[in-house]
Amino acid sequence: MDTCALHDGFGRTITYLRIAVTDKCNFRCVYCMPEAGVPPRAHDELLRAEEIAHFVGLVAAEGVRRVRLTGGEPLVSHRIVPLVRAIRAIPQIEDISLTTNGALLPRLAPALKEAGLDRVNISLDTLDPAQFGEITRLGRLEQTLSGIDAALGYGFHPVKVNCVVVRRLDQDVFGLARLSLDRPVHVRFIEYMPIGDETTGADRARDVSEGAAPTSPMGEGDGPGMAGGTGAIDPHCPGSVDAAAWDASDTVPSAELRARISEAGVAAGIGALEPVASGGEPAGAGPAAYWRFPGAEGTVGFISAMSNHFCSSCNRMRLTADGAIRPCLFSDAEYQVRAALRAGDDARVRAIWRDAVAHKPQEHQAIEGTERFMSQIGG
Ligand code: GTP
Ligand code: 5AD
Ligand code: SF4
Repeated sequence: MDTCALHDGFGRTITYLRIAVTDKCNFRCVYCMPEAGVPPRAHDELLRAEEIAHFVGLVAAEGVRRVRLTGGEPLVSHRIVPLVRAIRAIPQIEDISLTTNGALLPRLAPALKEAGLDRVNISLDTLDPAQFGEITRLGRLEQTLSGIDAALGYGFHPVKVNCVVVRRLDQDVFGLARLSLDRPVHVRFIEYMPIGDETTGADRARDVSEGAAPTSPMGEGDGPGMAGGTGAIDPHCPGSVDAAAWDASDTVPSAELRARISEAGVAAGIGALEPVASGGEPAGAGPAAYWRFPGAEGTVGFISAMSNHFCSSCNRMRLTADGAIRPCLFSDAEYQVRAALRAGDDARVRAIWRDAVAHKPQEHQAIEGTERFMSQIGG
């Protein structure tokens, strides 16, 4: 273990910082953002690239070793390449990764590679062009597929694909999992989480974490976009999915999904998913559990954010685009650091960071919706 790493109040070692470079995005995925996007922030509310890099330098001295650039969509930020370069120059940082929808990767991959980016995770929720358009509202499938090609072509390693599974979208998950067969692509399925609605998420989340059958927690009088009073699912209806009105019945537990994909593998003559032996997983710092089709080049991963909370091993802190340190994705407690950074008060920045780490919650009681949308927190 790193000798100078900072521990939180529960013995967890904080080595991983996720930075939301911007809360803007060129897509508007139905599970992530409202259709109109998030309210724009005044330019001077956003951290500049130099400020972010300076912050990373300070927290690297506190034990941070891995940085993920996320958003919103980090590649819509004009500061992304200089930011990668500046972070690369910080000696303690061992791993710089980026979570993207891939659309701008064909254009930016060479500059990002040259600046020192190590790896990318690309969001892709369906291989059906029409459904892709409906889910992302603004995107086209071939943009993201070209982004995956560019990531492989420019030698980023490993390349991971993130798919948020929403029951009523009825995505072809086996089709996505097959992407791992003949290319070194690691396809991860993520349980849909309540984000962007602080008022009612907690009660609704209990249904997933306690393994209850899908219900509609809104009861009668379901608002627009809900699944219906009996928990009935409206398949193929992305228009009715609403990031601010998450419903437990839409989260597909990883165990169910894995069984489905495995059975489809057997039926297609590929074989069942096999667990990846410890040490054989793609490099990373996240909570995914990895499986593999026999003989496949890549893997199939599952991120069980709802059915199996991974709080006890959580190694991460977040920095929002407007300069708040956020110790937990699901807790709205934030520690404002922008003013101290702008004032050049390094001692104060360090003190705020230590305070935030010390107050990282042991776990979120129930997963609650948050005041911010995912794109504002950093995925
Ligand atoms: P690596 O494994 O290092 O590649 O990264 P990662 O899986 O941590 O990064 P990525 O940005 O690809 O995250 C994948 C998804 O996991 C995100 O889009 C979120 O849906 C989810 N996720 C990320 N961080 C957290 C977290 O702190 N808590 C929970 N519950 N979910 C998270
Ligand atoms: N639940 C789970 N993952 C989400 N993401 C966005 N919104 C949600 C949600 N409600 C993920 C995307 C992408 C990253 C930006 O955040 O898949 O990987
Ligand atoms: Fe943008 Fe990613 Fe959110 Fe989709 S999931 S709206 S691509 S930040």
